Amino acid sequence: MSTDGTGRAPGADAPSQPEGEAKPSDIGREPGGEAGAQSAPRSSTPPAPRASADNIVPPTAEQIARAAELLRAGELVGMPTETVYGLAADASNVAAVARIFAAKGRPSDHPLIVHLPDRGHLPRWARAIPKEALALARAFWPGPLTLILKREDRVPDAVTGGQDTVGLRVPNHPVALALLAAFDSGIAAPSANRFGRISPTTAAHVRDELGDNVALILDGGSCEVGIESTILDLSRETPVILRPGAISAADIARVIGGSPEVRAAVEGAAEGEPSRQDSDGKPRVSGSLAAHYAPRTPLQIAPSARLAETAATLAGEGSRVAVLAHAAADPRDARLIWRAAPAAAAAYARELYANLRELDALGADFIVVEAPPDTAAWQAIADRLGRAAVGSGEADET
Ligand code: TXA
Ligand code: MG
Repeated sequence: MSTDGTGRAPGADAPSQPEGEAKPSDIGREPGGEAGAQSAPRSSTPPAPRASADNIVPPTAEQIARAAELLRAGELVGMPTETVYGLAADASNVAAVARIFAAKGRPSDHPLIVHLPDRGHLPRWARAIPKEALALARAFWPGPLTLILKREDRVPDAVTGGQDTVGLRVPNHPVALALLAAFDSGIAAPSANRFGRISPTTAAHVRDELGDNVALILDGGSCEVGIESTILDLSRETPVILRPGAISAADIARVIGGSPEVRAAVEGAAEGEPSRQDSDGKPRVSGSLAAHYAPRTPLQIAPSARLAETAATLAGEGSRVAVLAHAAADPRDARLIWRAAPAAAAAYARELYANLRELDALGADFIVVEAPPDTAAWQAIADRLGRAAVGSGEADET
């Protein structure tokens, strides 16, 4: 994914706030923008079929305090971050963590990321912290980088899937930071989607995925980065990127030297095999299962040169075909439902999951996605699209 040439990924600095999203100075005020208008609990919009009408709330100081109370009471809260929305629970509360797995339908051996209020909390959750971790935390937190470190004894097995390591990050979103400050401890939060499905980048996506399984969803607007954090494992002899994200291998190398190995390619994708397992066979990163981030509509990726032809062939066989392209609609073929995605990697990532959700909701027979450029800036996007293709077209994952 792209950086701005300063070695900082988009989320590593204060992100530009989309309209309607809370800025730190907004917290405690009534939202005036789009996100608040969409979701204010006072709205007269009729209840969505699968959820209470009022579990999406604006991120006022009052609602953030309420969310922190709910976390203390062992409830689940939808939390915006700069990457995707998280399904938050008290990381120290085993029963609350168990509710995350139940709500997501996620196997219990898939470990969760613990979100911290600031890097000062690191020693409470990790031990034997290497100097590289401190340097990276200083450079990129708050921001879209998760560090896998040896865990402290207080981290429950329920969070780590029984592993000796824990994933930690400080998210760069004013609402998440306000909630973490109010809660003042670690918040376990996987992406707030059903297991194997497309990660949510708006509060409404969280409601669509999880409905009443979440007590309250803080509306932080659309996520600025749009795809999940980079996961860097520093618990091994050498640094390994387990999941590519907005912070690239080059960004990391600039801080710690060397060049971290990237082990996140969709190996075995064609066979739908899990791509990465521990020596004991446990998946270390559920996002590394080949079939992940998947729409229900069968999705295929076509090279730019063959995009129009691939889509037209499918449409010619009587199928309804939705296309996610880099360019405007193919004027020669009015049968296709065509969506032009942004040309720049950061903007493409920001809109990727919302685009996939919208195309999936059309009920088309196929989604055809134009292959991303084969460059470092597009690596994380290519990773997510590859997994979406492998897992697509299935009824709900088990
Ligand atoms: O951007 C993100 O990271 C988002 C936001 C909400 O922070 N969270 C997220 O969580 O993507 P989740 O659970 O959907 O993906 C986190 C991945 C999982 O696939 C999990 O297996 C991996 O991180 N993970 C967590 N702890 C780990 C550990 N100790 N070792 C290896 N992988 C770990
Ligand atoms: Mg996830």
